[in-house]
Amino acid sequence: MNSDQSSDKQPRTISNESSLAALPLRVSERKLEDAMDEDKIDFKTPAIELRNVDFSYDDNKVLNGVNFQVARGEIKIILSGSGGGKSTILKLILGLLKPDSGQIFIDGEEITKCDETELQRTRDKLGMVFQEGALSDSLTVYENVAYRLQERGMPEQDIEEEVLSLLKFVKLEKEMDKLPSELSGGMRKRVSVARALVGNPTIVLFDEPTVELDPPTSGTICDLIIELRDLENVSSIVVTHEMDVVKYLTSEYLSVGEKGDIQFKDDGERLCLTNTNILMLRDGREIFSGTSKELIESADSYIHEFIRGTELLPELDANPPQQSPGQNEGRISLQQVISK
Ligand SMILES: Nc1ncnc2c1ncn2[C@@H]1O[C@H](COP(=O)(O)OP(=O)(O)OP(=O)(O)O)[C@@H](O)[C@H]1O
Ligand SMILES: [Mg+2]
Repeated sequence: MNSDQSSDKQPRTISNESSLAALPLRVSERKLEDAMDEDKIDFKTPAIELRNVDFSYDDNKVLNGVNFQVARGEIKIILSGSGGGKSTILKLILGLLKPDSGQIFIDGEEITKCDETELQRTRDKLGMVFQEGALSDSLTVYENVAYRLQERGMPEQDIEEEVLSLLKFVKLEKEMDKLPSELSGGMRKRVSVARALVGNPTIVLFDEPTVELDPPTSGTICDLIIELRDLENVSSIVVTHEMDVVKYLTSEYLSVGEKGDIQFKDDGERLCLTNTNILMLRDGREIFSGTSKELIESADSYIHEFIRGTELLPELDANPPQQSPGQNEGRISLQQVISK
């Protein structure tokens, strides 16, 4: 993560002076209590569930019996080698691909049985940052971000407000009339992030969201993913190969103070927030599922090779975690955040 964040051991408070003030802190637009009204949220049904999913491109079997769930307000980080099927999983969840066998559920509804009209309704709950950006070349930056809201028939004034706020957040308000071909790779990625977040999706799929971004912007995107998890119960899948991103997402959390002030806090070196889990795939199968602390402690030689020399390891080795068995201190649920 960027140097500002890694060296800052004090909780960071979101204030007007902070660079994070640019972040479209969506809870601030509503009453905080409304956003955190847990009674209205069904925590029992997973937001996403894959059961025994097989998928092949012709005779290339990419996924072989993949099972996992993403709970409400959970981040699932998916790791694998290149070509391991991560982007394919996200496209299956969006309903852009259909599994050869197995089932996929979104909010308890089996999308593998849905027709195109039903799928479109489900997609409205989802935001997706595609690995390759997937912007429409003939639309401007503004239009790329706005079109989903326009399709839903939202009044133009409301669309403008939301789109401009998101473009400001990704620092692209000055580029809003440009075409994607006039942008750098990192700028296109940021448009893709803004587009994924329009309409307040309850599930967001991030395919390599920080690739090609400079460290401060990458840090801001990670802060947003944490905000979505801790303040809005958004469920997300984050595909990344950047271990500093994995470390950040598994150790930082947001806490709401008595006066409603919101702070970023660091879980230290424990890396065991249980609302942020890692799934690792190899040859189309799950080889690991758990917290990053468990990942580091895994005896699997492939996992060792995968994370050797990365950001995840050195600091943990320097400060081994002191936890009693069964202790679950790292878990920060929204209830805990509220009661702090
Ligand atoms: N449209 C396609 N047609 C045929 N094969 C494909 C297609 N898309 C992906 N594949 C193949 O499926 C496998 C999984 O691809 P996928 O893009 O899901 O991997 P990934 O884990 O996202 O890789 P990376 O980390 O490089 O992005 C690869 O062998 C890839 O070549
Ligand atoms: Mg991919």
